[in-house]
Amino acid sequence: MQIKYLSTLMALCLSFITGYSHGAPADKVAELCGSCHALERPDYEAQGREERFSRKAPPLYFAGNKYRQEWLAAFLQAPYPLYPSGYFPESKLQDTADGDIPNENDLVTHLQLSESDASEVTDYLMNLQPYTEMLSQDNYSEGKVSLRMGTLDFRKFKGCDACHQDSEDNGGFSGPILYDAWSRLQPHYISAFLKNPLQWDPNTIMPVPQMNEQAVHKLVDYLKAIGETE
Ligand code: HEC
Ligand code: HEC
Repeated sequence: MQIKYLSTLMALCLSFITGYSHGAPADKVAELCGSCHALERPDYEAQGREERFSRKAPPLYFAGNKYRQEWLAAFLQAPYPLYPSGYFPESKLQDTADGDIPNENDLVTHLQLSESDASEVTDYLMNLQPYTEMLSQDNYSEGKVSLRMGTLDFRKFKGCDACHQDSEDNGGFSGPILYDAWSRLQPHYISAFLKNPLQWDPNTIMPVPQMNEQAVHKLVDYLKAIGETE
């Protein structure tokens, strides 16, 4: 308690000295989210793979290049699990006769924000756009793929459902659910990420798929198709 008061007092003094108002969005986001999410690009080169193991949650430092704004604001007010077995799958799976299943009791309940806090935090995060140039080089444009062909491609030909759910009752648990991807992610992010995941996250645990642009775009169209029927 004492220490808390002291640090508040110090923050007040500091804001007086620097003219930086306490509770500015950057401070607020750092305080609320920074203990789990990276808000700046980690020094991947210096930290190597260790960086991945020290992560508690997905990085947010390129949030403005990744999420759809409306989704982010809604998620922060009503979060739901994106990683069915937690961000660190191996510790969250339960051995059963039917194979590994997510241990729901282990999942953390995500911090939930009020409407006004969510909107303030969202505005701040949507301005974090270090990869705008990378996105502008992506030339995905929305197309159509039949659900039948798309499903076959995603599940059988590309094997994406080993790790990702493309519906509530199909798919693996180690990657984020993707049946909400179209409402959650910017289309150019999905496309650019699939073309080169390492460019976004040098420590990603997603195997780098060898696909030409057309194949990538077909998968994005599939996520669009399932996103629009759900
Ligand atoms: C105690 C740790 C913790 C704190 C604090 C926290 N988060 Fe998270 N967050 C997580 C974890 C773990 C996940 C992934 C879990 C999941 O969605 O299944 C996550 C997921 C997310 C996602 C989706 C990530 C993605 O791309 O899959 C967003 C966006 C997010 N958090 C935003 C925030 C914001 C903004 C704040 C601060 C207001 C915040 N979080 C505070 C742990 C935290
Ligand atoms: C071995 C498991 C695995 C396979 C197979 C896999 N992924 Fe992933 N994928 C992941 C993980 C894990 C992430 C989250 C990034 C991370 O933590 O490294 C991810 C992230 C993604 C993302 C970004 C979503 C986000 O929330 O950031 C998309 C889109 C995606 N995968 C699509 C696909 C598609 C399409 C395929 C098939 C070509 C595929 N994945 C195959 C594990 C996998």
